[in-house]
Amino acid sequence: MTVTRTERPAVTAEEYLAAARTFPTGVTVVATRYRDDTPAKTVSAFASLSLDPLLVGVAIGRDSPMVWAARASGVLSVNVLRADQQHVADHFAAPAHRRPLPPPVALSRDTTGAPVLADCLSWFDCRIATIVPGGDHALLIGRVVAVHTSPGRPLVHHAGRYRSLVPLPALPLDPEIPVLPDQGVHAR
Ligand SMILES: Cc1cc2nc3c(=O)[nH]c(=O)nc-3n(C[C@H](O)[C@H](O)[C@H](O)COP(=O)(O)O)c2cc1C
Repeated sequence: MTVTRTERPAVTAEEYLAAARTFPTGVTVVATRYRDDTPAKTVSAFASLSLDPLLVGVAIGRDSPMVWAARASGVLSVNVLRADQQHVADHFAAPAHRRPLPPPVALSRDTTGAPVLADCLSWFDCRIATIVPGGDHALLIGRVVAVHTSPGRPLVHHAGRYRSLVPLPALPLDPEIPVLPDQGVHAR
């Protein structure tokens, strides 16, 4: 039997971006080190990948010096920004040579020697597990060796602008679905 398929027209970059912009993300600053330098940039393409082993992933433009700096040093940090740190996101989104000094947040070091932000919502201190090519980006996968978490709300990026989270009112509970003890939420 012959199956004929009608090929859909190729997706344009504009169509792809319009779809991608519907997805809200948090905002991180990813940092590494190279000799005395501390390459860092604002990154929204972050994912928590694995619990066993503990892995996170970030997608970085493949031609960014950060990719070879992370490969050379073998370390990486991912720093999650709070809602009141839009100026920090703007600072690290500017081209590195145009950023005013000093940076708007202090950098320190923890376990791996990768710079971590002294003030942010949380950070992941990682050793590079692998770097995977991904089109015009590189996927840097880090094995998490230390974390830090502080109270606060995350900075959110959606449809080209920064936002903060507003909780929705809770839906009435469905009596047909069991409720987890002490949590008031449905089991899934
Ligand atoms: C909200 C936001 C999210 C970004 N996410 C990414 C990302 O996921 N990956 C990336 O490579 N660049 C991302 N960028 C762009 C980099 O922050 C920017 O190109 C970089 O900081 C420029 O510095 P450089 O000259 O050192 O490359 C993002 C920028 C903004 C404002």
